[in-house]
Amino acid sequence: MRIDILSIFPGYFDIPINEGILKIARDKGLLIIKTIDIRDFTEDKHRQVDDYPYGGGPGMVMKPDPVFKAVESVLHEHPESWRQQARTVLLTPRGKQFDQSMAAEFAGEERIVLICGHYEGIDERVHQKVSDEVSIGDYVLSGGEPAALVFVDAITRLLKGVLGSAESLAEESFIEGLLEYPQYTRPALYEGMKVPDVLLSGDHAKIASWKRMESIRQTYKIRPDILKKASLSQAEKDFIKALNEQKDKGEGKDEQDRVV
Ligand code: ADE
Repeated sequence: MRIDILSIFPGYFDIPINEGILKIARDKGLLIIKTIDIRDFTEDKHRQVDDYPYGGGPGMVMKPDPVFKAVESVLHEHPESWRQQARTVLLTPRGKQFDQSMAAEFAGEERIVLICGHYEGIDERVHQKVSDEVSIGDYVLSGGEPAALVFVDAITRLLKGVLGSAESLAEESFIEGLLEYPQYTRPALYEGMKVPDVLLSGDHAKIASWKRMESIRQTYKIRPDILKKASLSQAEKDFIKALNEQKDKGEGKDEQDRVV
């Protein structure tokens, strides 16, 4: 996969792309990442990338021309058929909310161009021209750079061959629509806190069933919204009913919070 990140702060990415998962993916030849300075595509001596908004209003707006020229500069080397397939992604708080399934979808692409916006916003014609607009959450960042990093990290770890163990992906949060079960490592007893006996039992079937139920319990406690979408067996639904009943007895519960 090749990803180009277009930004007015390309140095922002220097450390993250040379550490951890991004470094591993690059070293294995599974990912090529380039950062491009949008200012290199301005034509005035101040290298200005922003301008006043038409119609007035607070702050400045990012000009379309340097952005389009930067996109063109990274795509021009490709034949037209390939260029059509490249995903051009604008990171913006008004984009579609990024989640694990979107990460999986983008992990199947060959070519992604990320555009980091700044200032009060970016000219509307950039919004219109890109193939995708993505937000990483309902909050406003000072620019698209942190969002681009989140996007690239979540996608890179899904690229085939990047992570060592296939299991660590197969079992993890969100893939099955549940949060992860609690994890423990040595020692078995730490400052009075014990690892659950079942994990020390060596009984693989029991351990697998404990993990599944604990995943459900965590999801019930922390993200009941995603539990509603998970596919569950009858025994698992009964387990949730029991959790509901416990909660009803313990502290009383709003009907709308119930998950089954
Ligand atoms: N730029 C500013 N805020 C953002 C957000 N929440 N997601 C993506 N890009 C952004």
